[in-house]
Amino acid sequence: MIKLKHVDKYYGNFHVLKDISLEVNKGEFISIVGRSGSGKSTLLNIIGGMDKAEKGKIIVNDEDISLYSDDELTLYRRRKIGFIFQFFNLLPNISVFENISMPLILNNAMDEEKVKYLINLVGLEDKESSFPFQLSGGEQQRVAIARALVHSPEIILADEPTGSLDSETGKLIMELICRLIKEFQKTVIIVTHENYIAQYADRIITIKDGVVYK
Ligand SMILES: Nc1ncnc2c1ncn2[C@@H]1O[C@H](COP(=O)(O)OP(=O)(O)OP(=O)(O)O)[C@@H](O)[C@H]1O
Ligand SMILES: [Mg+2]
Repeated sequence: MIKLKHVDKYYGNFHVLKDISLEVNKGEFISIVGRSGSGKSTLLNIIGGMDKAEKGKIIVNDEDISLYSDDELTLYRRRKIGFIFQFFNLLPNISVFENISMPLILNNAMDEEKVKYLINLVGLEDKESSFPFQLSGGEQQRVAIARALVHSPEIILADEPTGSLDSETGKLIMELICRLIKEFQKTVIIVTHENYIAQYADRIITIKDGVVYK
């Protein structure tokens, strides 16, 4: 489903990702671990079409997204990817319901029933009219999880999804993510530097100074 072939990424003269080759199968859940600055987020952002590599192929569903134009990448992100971030990245001035609706609106495919269904799945029935600032961190991440799934993307990318939560809430969030991705059979890549979070995955990949160790 996702195949990276000899990917190199530089920031100026700094060689961040070095000859990365990696395969993720459809329906697989992998975690990427490594120290701060090792290149985890950069790698995830390249797979998600938010950043570009200088060299190599990034094949997703038999298409090389490294050949995409910016417009094609925007569509790819909107349709194929669900993102979950460490700091939730919710829009502050709109409600839970509207935040979760966003991917559908961007895809011209608004579906209120679908939004309500996702709100129920993540257990936020009584919060749909609340604003992000009225929610706990764990609740905000539940909103982000619903938003990541609502447009039925094939791939879920999560960068330190539990990084700003206490460990108990982090475990609950991981259990929710695991339950939903199994139910919807998503292909998932989670970046974390916590071993107990990485253990939820089918496979753990380690990155060290821009090099991948499987
Ligand atoms: N836009 C940028 N411009 C220049 N250097 C960057 C940029 N983004 C990241 N870097 C550098 O690239 C390296 C890898 O960064 P990256 O964010 O991928 O690390 P990470 O493994 O996700 O770290 P962390 O665990 O702290 O989130 C770091 O040394 C970082 O300073
Ligand atoms: Mg990072």
